[in-house]
Amino acid sequence: MGIRISNLVKIYGSTLIVDQISFDVADGEFVTLLGPSGCGKTTTLRCIAGLERADGGSIEIDGTVVSDGSLGIHVGTHERNLGMVFQSYAIWPHMTVARNVAFPLQVRGATPSAAIDEAVRWALDVVGLGALSHRHPSELSGGQQQRVALARAIVGKPKVLLFDEPLSNLDARLRDRTRSEISRIQKELAIPAVYVTHDQAEALSMSDRVIVMNGGVTVEEGAPRNLYQRPRKRFTAEFIGAANFIGMTWDGQLWKTADGASVAIPGHSAAGAGDTRQAVLRSEVLHVEPADAPLSAGFAALRGTVLGHQYMGPYTEYSIDVAGTAIMAHSAAEFPVGSPVHVTFRPQDIHLLPPDA
Ligand SMILES: Nc1ncnc2c1ncn2[C@@H]1O[C@H](COP(=O)(O)OP(=O)(O)OP(=O)(O)O)[C@@H](O)[C@H]1O
Ligand SMILES: [Mg+2]
Repeated sequence: MGIRISNLVKIYGSTLIVDQISFDVADGEFVTLLGPSGCGKTTTLRCIAGLERADGGSIEIDGTVVSDGSLGIHVGTHERNLGMVFQSYAIWPHMTVARNVAFPLQVRGATPSAAIDEAVRWALDVVGLGALSHRHPSELSGGQQQRVALARAIVGKPKVLLFDEPLSNLDARLRDRTRSEISRIQKELAIPAVYVTHDQAEALSMSDRVIVMNGGVTVEEGAPRNLYQRPRKRFTAEFIGAANFIGMTWDGQLWKTADGASVAIPGHSAAGAGDTRQAVLRSEVLHVEPADAPLSAGFAALRGTVLGHQYMGPYTEYSIDVAGTAIMAHSAAEFPVGSPVHVTFRPQDIHLLPPDA
């Protein structure tokens, strides 16, 4: 049944923070709210959790309306049957791992203690902490503490999992590991999840679907691959990954760039000669070649001059002036600043934004 958010509105004081956001999360689906700081992600999540009272719209969880302003419905957090994991682990320092995980079931009451023990064992096994149930949080690493929080979120077999930047306190290596751990557990339990982050790598790698937010509204939503490769909005292209934008003009037969190159872009023909569009070129599909090197078959080239470079290990990232626009491109080779170069790419790797992007 999943979750259905319809025209959600949240106002703080006189400021509209969430402005008519609507989205669904299907059963077992992992949906991420991705957007810059202050765009309203946490506020949206807190409304779903019932920690905030929405000012408009409705929220349905597993077929039950838990929030509807016009009907005067606001179901409390504890009756929504949610599992929540936040950036701060919020686990009790004076309780053992097992007692922390048991806590939500004890608060709920009515669960016999044998059943609680069994559920705690199950949850700790799922997160791989079965052997550490008697430790106190101070005897755990940050990653292990976050897994306690995860076990506590799933112990009551919730209808929905809510995550708010759960990885941001972990170091880079642990973040990657915990990321795949959360994905695995969510898929294994098939509980619909809403995950909030401003980290594009997390959003792309974990989600079935990403909702890009900005300024309290939804900019665009889609599967990670579609959003990255074929964004419909310039904001999405800029926010997810490193994007270069170059202007292209349709001359009736081909797309022309400002430096005079003509490119046939598969699947893109405009309505009329003179139409202009913004092309998105990801730096990883752009290669830097010496200006006098012959062009490989199937590649197009832009002429440019090296403005600067940064050694990244596997490649060097170049900033290249192409007809007055700085383009970022990768190469394993070395080109000094001022070198005349070709930026080459395959035309099928170009994505043209729609006219209203
Ligand atoms: N209790 C509150 N009272 C007034 N304004 C608030 C309150 N909580 C949040 N806001 C404001 O609402 C806006 C959205 O905040 P929110 O926490 O939802 O952003 P976010 O997208 O989660 O950002 P971040 O990535 O920094 O966590 C911000 O401008 C914030 O200052
Ligand atoms: Mg937030």
